[in-house]
Amino acid sequence: MNLFRLTLIAATTALAAPLAMAQAAPKLKVGLMLPATGTFAALGTAIENGFRLYVAEQGGKLGGREVEFVKVDDESDPAKATDNVNKLIKRDNVDVLVGTVHSGVAMAMAKVAKETGTLLIVPNAGAGAVTGPMCAPNIFRSSFSNWQTGYATGEAVAKRGHKKVATITWKYAAGDEMVAGFKEAFEKAGGSVVKELNLPFPNVEFQALLTDLAATKPDATFAFFAGGGAVKFVKDYAGAGLKKSIPLYGTGFLTDGTLEAQGDAAEGIFTALHYADSLGTPRDNAFRLAYAKAYKLQPDVYAVQGYDAGQMLGVGLAAVKGDASKKGEFAAALEKAKIDSPRGTFTLSKAHNPVQDFYLRQVVGKENKSTGLASKALADPARGCKM
Ligand code: PHB
Repeated sequence: MNLFRLTLIAATTALAAPLAMAQAAPKLKVGLMLPATGTFAALGTAIENGFRLYVAEQGGKLGGREVEFVKVDDESDPAKATDNVNKLIKRDNVDVLVGTVHSGVAMAMAKVAKETGTLLIVPNAGAGAVTGPMCAPNIFRSSFSNWQTGYATGEAVAKRGHKKVATITWKYAAGDEMVAGFKEAFEKAGGSVVKELNLPFPNVEFQALLTDLAATKPDATFAFFAGGGAVKFVKDYAGAGLKKSIPLYGTGFLTDGTLEAQGDAAEGIFTALHYADSLGTPRDNAFRLAYAKAYKLQPDVYAVQGYDAGQMLGVGLAAVKGDASKKGEFAAALEKAKIDSPRGTFTLSKAHNPVQDFYLRQVVGKENKSTGLASKALADPARGCKM
């Protein structure tokens, strides 16, 4: 090697060293896989808003690393889910996946996350499999299991004195599992489910089913719909004249983030959920104020779940000083954490699903007002999880 090249190498090394030292930790790539179109579009927006609010409150950094987002619109379409999640992992090289709303899409995400070991935080979809048979050390949920929401509602409807209930929902994992959870609690309390009605996701042609309900004459109806579908269902139910004769209940998704659009049709409806409007705690007040200021919108349960997905990622990354590859330590930190959620503090079960309180809520004006607890510290049974 000649003297010229040696000098050149020495000069570049001398220059590069202080530069490298001054260089910040590489950005943390968060892959947001959420619906931006379709019946769940507003839910995706609220989750992203909540997540971004938490990151902004931390000065844009988690675990000492500046956060950068890569986004995919999953369209709530399970058929496209595997391709979408692979794009984020293989093409974009994300450090962590956050998503999604739809249970069928989330199951595909969990499968890939389990196979590749990529960190996954589910900010809504309640699919039992994610924290059941597919549970894994790198998979977490900041929301609920479908079973939990159905079970809490089943207990509440039984306590309100109803005996014979008809159920109505979309025919896919979320609807099936919420109805199963509802049935488990409701039958345990002595009630019976006299009819189970459903239609394919995301259809909203409810008329034939409403006619069937009217003929069945149950004491009450239990429904799961969400987003745009929930708006139409609640309006159609009232429009068909059923609201007075057959009281309508549901998991809280039926009336969360939907009240402006549902108007008077939603007034008085009771639902159960792990969040309610105006809980009145200092934590929730601060969150609601910050959210309203940032987005000129009131938060809903989806915003809370997005915010808490941010908090969970923050807790895990703080424990590993931003090194997302240290998955064992990341998981250990979350397993012993108390998440300071606007909904009330929660812990994670061994399967990484929130153990949390459920509120009985009633629609009063434009609010899902809490009327008290439906279920205290309810844990998903995590059937099939071996971890
Ligand atoms: C789900 O598919 O798991 C799901 C979707 C929307 C909700 C709740 C659950 O509001």
